[in-house]
Amino acid sequence: MSQLTLHLLLLALASCALASHYYGGTMTYVSKGQNPDGSFTVDIRYKETFRTGCSTYNRWSCASGNCGTITSLQSGRVDSSSAGFNWCHSDALMTRRLSSDEPFELRMASCCWITNTAGGGLSWRLLTHIDLGTRSDTLAPNRSPVTTVIPHIRLPSNCHRNINLLAHDPDGDQVRCRYGLVYNVECSSCQQHSNFYLDEDTCVLHHYGYTSVGARVFEFVVEDFPTQQISVSYSTGSWASKFPLSPATPSPSSTPYSTAAPGGTPLSRIPLQLIVRIDGAVPSCTEGVYLPRLLSPTPYNGEVFDIAVAQELEIHLKAQATHSLLSDFLISGPLNITEQKTFSGSVAESTLKWTPTENDNGVHFPICFIAESKLGASVYHSEMRCVIVRVGPRAGEANVICSETTMTVEVEKSSIIGLHADHLRLNDPSCTLMSNATHVIGSMSLNSCGTQLEEDDENLIFKNEITTVEDPTAVITRRHEVEIGFSCVYPKTGRVSLEFRAHKVPFIFTERGFGKFTYQFEFYHSSQFSQMVDPSTYPVEVPLKEMIYMEIESSSSIPNTVLFVESCRATPIDDPSYHLYYSIIENGCIIDDTVVVYAENGPDYKFGMEAFKFIGNYDEVFISCSVILCKAGDPSTRCAQGCSNSTAAPAVHHHRRRSVALETASHYISQGPLRLKRSSKESADTVRSDLSSTSLNMNLVFIAGTLLALVAMVCGVVIFKSKHPKVRYQELPNSEF
Ligand SMILES: *[C@@H]1O[C@H](CO)[C@@H](O)[C@H](O)[C@H]1NC(C)=O
Ligand SMILES: *[C@@H]1O[C@H](CO)[C@@H](O)[C@H](O)[C@H]1NC(C)=O
Ligand SMILES: *[C@@H]1O[C@H](CO)[C@@H](O)[C@H](O)[C@H]1NC(C)=O
Repeated sequence: MSQLTLHLLLLALASCALASHYYGGTMTYVSKGQNPDGSFTVDIRYKETFRTGCSTYNRWSCASGNCGTITSLQSGRVDSSSAGFNWCHSDALMTRRLSSDEPFELRMASCCWITNTAGGGLSWRLLTHIDLGTRSDTLAPNRSPVTTVIPHIRLPSNCHRNINLLAHDPDGDQVRCRYGLVYNVECSSCQQHSNFYLDEDTCVLHHYGYTSVGARVFEFVVEDFPTQQISVSYSTGSWASKFPLSPATPSPSSTPYSTAAPGGTPLSRIPLQLIVRIDGAVPSCTEGVYLPRLLSPTPYNGEVFDIAVAQELEIHLKAQATHSLLSDFLISGPLNITEQKTFSGSVAESTLKWTPTENDNGVHFPICFIAESKLGASVYHSEMRCVIVRVGPRAGEANVICSETTMTVEVEKSSIIGLHADHLRLNDPSCTLMSNATHVIGSMSLNSCGTQLEEDDENLIFKNEITTVEDPTAVITRRHEVEIGFSCVYPKTGRVSLEFRAHKVPFIFTERGFGKFTYQFEFYHSSQFSQMVDPSTYPVEVPLKEMIYMEIESSSSIPNTVLFVESCRATPIDDPSYHLYYSIIENGCIIDDTVVVYAENGPDYKFGMEAFKFIGNYDEVFISCSVILCKAGDPSTRCAQGCSNSTAAPAVHHHRRRSVALETASHYISQGPLRLKRSSKESADTVRSDLSSTSLNMNLVFIAGTLLALVAMVCGVVIFKSKHPKVRYQELPNSEF
């Protein structure tokens, strides 16, 4: 025991001997990690309630292990009451420095509880078991359960009321609430009151009514257990196994754990003590009559709020009672929480405000509240509700800009104080960020820097994250000190264009931007697809029956996506829905037999076909394709199904509802209405003569016969024209064909 602790303990013992003033308390802790010198820091938060005075004294002594030294201690009043019984509830933050992460126990032992059914002069005893060892499952120190309570809860003697004790575990462990059992250590009355029943798994304290009037002392212990066997290791090299509450052998999950829970080794053990005062009978046990009823927008019990460091939390409470006057809201919460209350007869409202500081980052804070009303000398309490506030990294201004191939995120430097761009990285650690005087800027293509592709019903979502660089040689970790998730969302529906929308979100946790994909539809000179036909040289003249090479590309090479060409059709005018058309590809099936596919099942689709023209007085051919972009590797996407006409005659626009979640809707490629044009009278005649004898129903002529092929090679010319038909491309070099 350190000199200071001993001194304070003696002082505390001397100052409060036999004073009947204690209303209960609790303690939770959070590891703050290892210091550069090898020592460990822990933040311990404890709440105490006393009849008089709102100052907290450190009455904690070291019961076992090495409890280290106190490096800082601050405390303050949270709430107080003078409704018949005076009390003041305070919260303290005690920081301790420890030489190792091995378990230790803090104990508070003094006198006395307020006068209660066990009589006067009852001492109080609290014990907290703190273990800062590293868990094998989370690879981090265990976090204790989070709890608090209104220290003085009043129940009418004639009503069945439940008290929902808060037992939240930040690590998702199983939490058990039980009565203190070890006399003089966990409890001093160690009494389990009749007409009360504690459900140890849900931490609900049931009051069955018909109880005699008076204050009852409840000395609970809250423990967290791993959900499967884990080990906890220490800096000294030692370790310990921790077992879950229930046996590992499978049991029907519907069966709750019996109250006599077998085995289980708690990871931590914290006290939760309060007074429940049984008052005289109330004329009606119905809430909202004498007992106040909590109304919307009061949060529900167990609700979770996520806020960022330096962001103000605001919780609105409202209560009503028709036969009593609302007089107070009792609250328990973190230091510096403020309350703004308004009462107007049968309705009361309150706004709780609290702003977490940098030190609160990553910590889960409990807040509990009760509405109180009065009628003459009678005091009535509403149910108690508790919520959890999870504090995340500081919020800031970030901006995401999405193009069809890139994501750019701009984060205000003021949002990430103390961190240089050099200490930040993207998913792929080799991608660094740039910065100017005011912003940190990350720019990446959709397929670089570890960008991940996800999908939902309507969008393809590209995600990346800015995190803090972890130095493997560092002694302390600042993991997740900054975690800026950002994404670009590409809607599955909509026309292909080059317009983008950027969405600005004020918080740093997830930033989304919106963009649209574009597709390119280009001609190539050969099946090598090495040389694109320069659009400025359009229209290209290609002899009929010669192969034309086309490539459809989704933006650039977008990662993990498959481009699927669902249909391609040729029309004589620039309108894909024109009644006169020729199908080249339909339902992913190749209809025209001259089509050769050179590349598919990837981000681009390369194919070729023999040149043709429409029968009749049409000089031009437009080709338009509908394409779908799917996440690669998912066998249930439309892309993976390939050629399939099994679904009942899908319209080109609405199809395959069944798998809509897995792929984009069809996009019409709007970039490449292509024109094919005869350039010589001779070929026109050839075509026309052929027209009369074949495939009239298609309104299309294919120069397909072997005999005609030679003629076509010599005479037929097809011209490909872009939207900029300024320059004529006269004959392609033979080598390219
Ligand atoms: C409470 O507020 C005071 C004054 O603003 C501040 O110095 C202190 O750090 C705060 N404490 C906590 C735990 O937020
Ligand atoms: C820094 O970059 C951001 C984002 O590109 C820009 O808005 C801002 O004006 C730049 N600031 C300076 C000082 O150049
Ligand atoms: C569907 O495809 C099969 C061959 O895969 C074909 O025989 C059938 O005619 C097609 N049906 C339609 C409606 O296109």
